[in-house]
Amino acid sequence: MSASPLLYLQSGGPTAVFNATAQGVIEAARSLERPLLATRDGLDGLIEGRLVDTTRVSDSEIARLSSLPGGSFGVSRNMVPSFLEAPQLWLRMRDVLQGHDIHHLLVNGGNGSMGSAARLAEFTRHTGYPLSVIGIPKTIDNDLPGTDFSPGFPSAARFLATLMREVTLDMDSMAQRRVFIMETMGRHTGWLAAATAAAAQHPGAAPHLILLPEVPFEAERFLLRLHQCLERHGHCGITVAEGLSGVDGRPLAETRHDQVYGHEQLGGAGVYLAQLIRQRMEITAHVAQVDCLQRAARHLASGLDLRLAHLAGRVAVEWALAGRHGVMTGITRSAAAVPLWGIAPVSLAEVGDQERKLPAEFIDALNLGVTPAFLDYLRPLLAAGEPVPSAADGLPDCRPIAWGALSLAS
Ligand code: F6P
Repeated sequence: MSASPLLYLQSGGPTAVFNATAQGVIEAARSLERPLLATRDGLDGLIEGRLVDTTRVSDSEIARLSSLPGGSFGVSRNMVPSFLEAPQLWLRMRDVLQGHDIHHLLVNGGNGSMGSAARLAEFTRHTGYPLSVIGIPKTIDNDLPGTDFSPGFPSAARFLATLMREVTLDMDSMAQRRVFIMETMGRHTGWLAAATAAAAQHPGAAPHLILLPEVPFEAERFLLRLHQCLERHGHCGITVAEGLSGVDGRPLAETRHDQVYGHEQLGGAGVYLAQLIRQRMEITAHVAQVDCLQRAARHLASGLDLRLAHLAGRVAVEWALAGRHGVMTGITRSAAAVPLWGIAPVSLAEVGDQERKLPAEFIDALNLGVTPAFLDYLRPLLAAGEPVPSAADGLPDCRPIAWGALSLAS
């Protein structure tokens, strides 16, 4: 294979199906007989010239990729500033690309990463070096516009809803006045928290209260609803999104505020609620901050998620080689009862750095749950996937892929 290589990079928080996309990208490049390089640690690897050559890894190892959670090449949270803000950095990237004769870049990430991809889509204009850029969606938060769902979200949703369904039986069987709080990720949007609504198999089943960042938190209203729930059901299952904010718009809990990190690190809303409940109602609540587990739970990944994550990667390669540029592989679904799924181009300029909130029609009239329309949206995403391969010890086989030394670094 002597044609110029494509370059793939993974950016932002991992998901259970991130590597399914990587597998789709690599398999497509192989079938089209184009070499594929990947950056180490996302955009950092592009800036610093830390690349690996995927062609050195066997087909059987590549076939294992989609069973591994995480981002196999490593990721970073760093984003690409505009050319005007950092011309020297852009020239460094040009040197790296030129050094390896790369003219096609595939950026796999969420809204911030698509912002970087949108800026990089202007590479040729700013530097004179010919480069086409294609974005591939990914984020458990599901807050990326231009795509029916973001790969990663269905699997995280399936995991969270499963946990909520199972814990309900635990609560049911214990003494009265049990309160269980599950805190989900999702940053400023409530897609993941809302997804736990799929847990309920009958009316009155948990989660009884879902607290979304799209709805300002009012303590008195919440405590009243909790009291009513305990009276009616004897226990209460609560989902709270990490980004839950007060009427002043500030998150109830923040682990860290860090400019370098690019955004605040949220977390602790569940503990905040438990303290409030203890102080005001003298009830002890159990709190589960699910945290990274919801991004890494590959064993419960959605089959649809795996399939579309892989397809989005495959199509990105085909588009790059067909001369497409400046677009993301957005996922589409038909409105049919059994939806048909597809991939359509969406301009990077339209999706980069944009945040898709849970729309009002998905939030119920009491602002403490979701509507049937949301469940109609969600349910087709939750189909089971193939069981993950086991290692000899009976646990999932999570041996990382050995991509080799950074021998291509310039
Ligand atoms: O963007 C995905 C996400 O999982 C958010 O839901 C969460 O707030 C954030 O990443 C956490 O990021 P980190 O692992 O870098 O702290």
